[in-house]
Amino acid sequence: MNLQVDNSYAPIQIGLHWLIAALVLFQLVFGESMVAATDAAEEGTTLGATDAVLATAHYWVGISVLVLFAVRLAVRLRLGAPAPAEGNALMALAARTTHWLFYILLAVVPVTGLITVHINPGMGEFHQLAKPAFIVLIVIHAGAALFHHFVLRDGTLKRMLIIAKSGRSA
Ligand code: HEM
Ligand code: HEM
Repeated sequence: MNLQVDNSYAPIQIGLHWLIAALVLFQLVFGESMVAATDAAEEGTTLGATDAVLATAHYWVGISVLVLFAVRLAVRLRLGAPAPAEGNALMALAARTTHWLFYILLAVVPVTGLITVHINPGMGEFHQLAKPAFIVLIVIHAGAALFHHFVLRDGTLKRMLIIAKSGRSA
């Protein structure tokens, strides 16, 4: 089986994509512990040990996402992205829009989290919108990736999985 593709993202882009995706997933699954922590602080109750560990993890994983986002954006602006597979202009626009909306969320969500903790707890409600916003985008984005792979069979998923054998075109 030949797993190589000619037109792919750079290895650092592939690594950052999947690392950030895993960290965001962690934040979405365990974010409720941070809500429990802020509730306990407001009500003066004691936080359970598991929630305490997960809330601390939420803080540091969230800051890691912000740092990795900055690296990723710098790499993206420097290296660009491979040209889209054959498809119509509307699909290319939908992909570009989704990708840049992700970049906006990857910056805005951790920053609003930091503001909630250090400046204004009232920002917490806005920060919590991260959950539906990320879920909607991930469903659209992962759905599109799987559609490209299994229906269009145009190699779009492979270029985010496999390092190109002969350089990149963009
Ligand atoms: C990509 C990064 C992040 C994601 C995806 C994320 C996601 C979430 C989610 C899903 C919740 C719980 C919402 C719910 O269950 O309804 C939450 C709560 C919270 N997060 Fe984050 N978060 C991120 C980064 C951060 C950072 C960097 C901080 C602080 C340094 C932070 C602080 C908080 C706080 C304080 C709450 C509780 C808000 C409240 O109780 O009103 N988050 N986050
Ligand atoms: C939190 C989860 C995710 C985030 C934040 C995310 C973000 C992104 C972003 C911003 C891009 C644009 C490329 C770049 O500029 O670096 C991208 C590309 C891509 N992602 Fe994701 N992604 C996530 C999850 C997934 C999942 C679960 C899949 C597969 C099922 C996937 C498959 C792809 C593919 C195939 C591309 C390349 C698309 C193209 O070249 O047009 N991503 N992703």
